[in-house]
Amino acid sequence: MASTEAPQARLQGRVASITGSGQGMGESIARAFARNGAAVVISDVNEERAQRVADSIIGNGGRAVALRADVTVSADAERIAQAGVDAFGQLDIHVNNAGISQTRLFMETERGDLERILQVNLVGAFICAQAAVRHMLPRGYGRVINIASLSGQRGGVGRAAYGSSKAALELLTKVMSVELAASGITVNNIAPGAIATEMAAAQHDQATREAYHYLIPQRRYGTPDEVADAAVFLASEEARHICGHTLNVDGGYLTAGLMFSLGNSKAPAAPSV
Ligand SMILES: NC(=O)c1ccc[n+]([C@@H]2O[C@H](COP(=O)([O-])OP(=O)(O)OC[C@H]3O[C@@H](n4cnc5c(N)ncnc54)[C@H](O)[C@@H]3O)[C@@H](O)[C@H]2O)c1
Repeated sequence: MASTEAPQARLQGRVASITGSGQGMGESIARAFARNGAAVVISDVNEERAQRVADSIIGNGGRAVALRADVTVSADAERIAQAGVDAFGQLDIHVNNAGISQTRLFMETERGDLERILQVNLVGAFICAQAAVRHMLPRGYGRVINIASLSGQRGGVGRAAYGSSKAALELLTKVMSVELAASGITVNNIAPGAIATEMAAAQHDQATREAYHYLIPQRRYGTPDEVADAAVFLASEEARHICGHTLNVDGGYLTAGLMFSLGNSKAPAAPSV
């Protein structure tokens, strides 16, 4: 039966910042937040892309501001958080989405690779969250969402540097969550599996795509919008008692064991991409 209730703007009156929101999942999260009534701060190292996303949200009747910011630069982390306060009077929600990836065998990964990835995925998230939480503490309300990865939970080939950065981000989330819970601030992770974004297109070759199709019970990549829906939930009032949780958005990838045909279950289809 079709519902007669009007769709709710679940983030009405909230101000949210999303790092790396000039494209990919960050863009989808920003658009979903705006559709749900939040004013959004779009930040990215690519200023043109950030501005394009903000203009499009404003064109659709939303509220948005764009800035060029590199999450690894402390002054930029402060500017991201301040932008929400300057443009919209407060900051309620912060999403650490900006990230870089690499698939390289452990013995071929150079120290510089590891340091570069940790800088963006861990240090960047750390300093941006600190700057955001500074604005949340006096108001006794906040939501921080970190975009981790299934690669931080499993030992994927070629994921020494990237997976380590995301595993560390998950642990950081737990510590932040415990320390900030009594201040009205929740901190949670979303761990996407394989999501069809430009990052995945650049990193996943044919063999990788086939392997994912074989291992994911839903037999497909996720979409950025499916990650954005999970982010809206964690940012909303409905998630007020959820602290330090990692919400996997992965089509069942992490939960799967043996997948062969038995009873009503479907055997893995021949891998197709
Ligand atoms: N695509 C996937 O399958 C997948 C899976 C799991 C986790 N993730 C994570 O999700 C997040 C978004 O991934 P995506 O696939 O949308 O990536 P993407 O490459 O499409 O977009 C990332 C955005 O971050 C920006 N960015 C990069 N470095 C930055 C920096 N130093 N400061 C500010 N912005 C910066 C880029 O300019 C880009 O706009 C990342 O943290 C990624 O690790 C992606």
